Amino acid sequence: MKLIILKNIFLKKNKKTILKNISLCIEKNKILTLIGPNGAGKSTLIKIILKLKKPSSGKIIYLKKHRIGYVPQNVDLNIPFRMTVYKFMIMSNIYKKNIIISNLKKVGAEKLKNKYLNNLSAGEIQKVLLARALLNNPNFLVLDEPTQGIDLLGQIKLYKLIYKIKLKLKCSILIVSHDLNFVMNQTDKVICLNKHICCSGTPKLISKNKNFIKMFGSIKIKKFAFYNHNHNHEHNF
Ligand SMILES: Nc1ncnc2c1ncn2[C@@H]1O[C@H](COP(=O)(O)OP(=O)(O)OP(=O)(O)O)[C@@H](O)[C@H]1O
Ligand SMILES: [Mg+2]
Repeated sequence: MKLIILKNIFLKKNKKTILKNISLCIEKNKILTLIGPNGAGKSTLIKIILKLKKPSSGKIIYLKKHRIGYVPQNVDLNIPFRMTVYKFMIMSNIYKKNIIISNLKKVGAEKLKNKYLNNLSAGEIQKVLLARALLNNPNFLVLDEPTQGIDLLGQIKLYKLIYKIKLKLKCSILIVSHDLNFVMNQTDKVICLNKHICCSGTPKLISKNKNFIKMFGSIKIKKFAFYNHNHNHEHNF
């Protein structure tokens, strides 16, 4: 079932083409991954889908009512004053204490609730941002490079958590990721973007596409077995 449809989206800034003829669908309960080099327009495309930026031309159709959870790229939480995770989560005054705590629990970050934001590690910040994005019980979760700055084991844990969230919340997920392991094993559809859509399809299909091979090299999916480390005493899913 389709949630959002994009038709022939173009974006130009100062005569420079940033996005060219993008057509795609966001489908219910599916993970769609955007991959592509730096400057390919991935974050810009996300902002257009979230109505944070206007395209120069093209059409976006929102078919269902959606509740969005968004974790932007490079969030700077170096807030000049001291603020605890709990205060940060409750800032909007919409959600009650038990909702805040249960969402921190979902991402295994309950123990961080009284810590100051400026003392958190990169991985801890991403977890808190994810917990905040989950507050409104989203049916469309948008994550722009959620594992940036996190160590390898932390990345694996976070990707596992994202996959569990999808299963539990039955939400659509749009994610920007450079992690081909995740892309090939946990994703329903992959779009390879470089201003225009170079190729798209299931991981299996896309790994054989010549445009994909040109960009990322030849890979065998079965080599990318998802690392299964069962130390799962943190997450509540
Ligand atoms: N407001 C703007 N004005 C002019 N150019 C812009 C603007 N916003 C983005 N760009 C340009 O659009 C291009 C795409 O940027 P974008 O941030 O979407 O790339 P990205 O694929 O997310 O890259 P990365 O992997 O580094 O995050 C870049 O060349 C960027 O400089
Ligand atoms: Mg980006």
